[in-house]
Amino acid sequence: MTQSFAGKILRRHFLAAAAAIALVPSAFAQAPIVIKFSHVVAMDTPKGKAATFFAKRAEELTKGRVKVEVYPNSQLYKDKEELEALQLGSVQMLAPSLSKFAPLGVKEFEVFDLPFIFDDYADLHRVTEGPVGKGLLAKLETRGITGLAYWDNGFKVFSANKPLKAVADYKGTKMRIQSSKVLDAEMRALGALPQVLAFSETYQALQTGVVDGTENPPSNLYTQKMYEVQKHLSVTNHGYLGYAVVVNKKFWDGLPTDIRGQLTQAITEATKVANDHAFADNQEALAKVKAAGKTEIYTPTPAERLALKKALVPVHQQMTSRIGEETLRAIYKETGFDPSKL
Ligand code: LMR
Repeated sequence: MTQSFAGKILRRHFLAAAAAIALVPSAFAQAPIVIKFSHVVAMDTPKGKAATFFAKRAEELTKGRVKVEVYPNSQLYKDKEELEALQLGSVQMLAPSLSKFAPLGVKEFEVFDLPFIFDDYADLHRVTEGPVGKGLLAKLETRGITGLAYWDNGFKVFSANKPLKAVADYKGTKMRIQSSKVLDAEMRALGALPQVLAFSETYQALQTGVVDGTENPPSNLYTQKMYEVQKHLSVTNHGYLGYAVVVNKKFWDGLPTDIRGQLTQAITEATKVANDHAFADNQEALAKVKAAGKTEIYTPTPAERLALKKALVPVHQQMTSRIGEETLRAIYKETGFDPSKL
């Protein structure tokens, strides 16, 4: 091979490679925008399923310009740490339970923890999808957080290693709660001893007897295997547990407008996934706990449930100054709840 012939071939290869690069400039110039989405529950829960769906839809709608990495089960951060990580920008997206926002200084979110304030999902959605819900999310802005949506889990049951039928049964029982002063007051109203623990620490605390019982929707109780270490469960449906989907505000505001629009669309669709799954997932989880045969499931009689309600509704008044009279009245107006009529 002559020198000039080899040179020609080399030049041709070089030109071909340069042309290929010119054809796909974005592949080299634009790495995808990464969203780290951290959460504390199992993938097989309403929140877990909605987060996975969001990741898929966000990638589809943005045609790969956004990549969402979902970290379930407190893999990356536990409850308190994840909110700090969001504010610092170490993660971009979370969906903490509404009970976990007060430590940020937005105590009004604890209104969702008030026992018996919502009769069902319809009551709840009138609040989350109306002006009260929007107003609460807007309060997060000054904390460097943008609230995008509410996702349902469901209504909570109580569990313990002893039967919980009458109000007196709760007396002296050590109960794990989320970091909410309303939940603390709820347990104290029953004579129980509340203890705040991270979600990820609950199973072990129940197993080792650090606490005797807890409250959660069945989907969490089942997927975290808490039922393995709880002999009794009472289907009280005494309170609601749901989530606010939140993003780091600086990150969100800095996104190109078209991408923000596509992600908003993905969130709207994911919200439907969470809410469509919530009721069925919790029913199914309860059936699975029953089938596992380790936990006795008790449904309180109407009289027992009324006694529980009478013991717990005074918590509303007790906590009014913390959550704000205006927020509480606005919710009563939406739902028709009247504490004087029990
Ligand atoms: C809990 O800590 O019990 C829940 O908030 C967990 C969750 O995210 O559903």
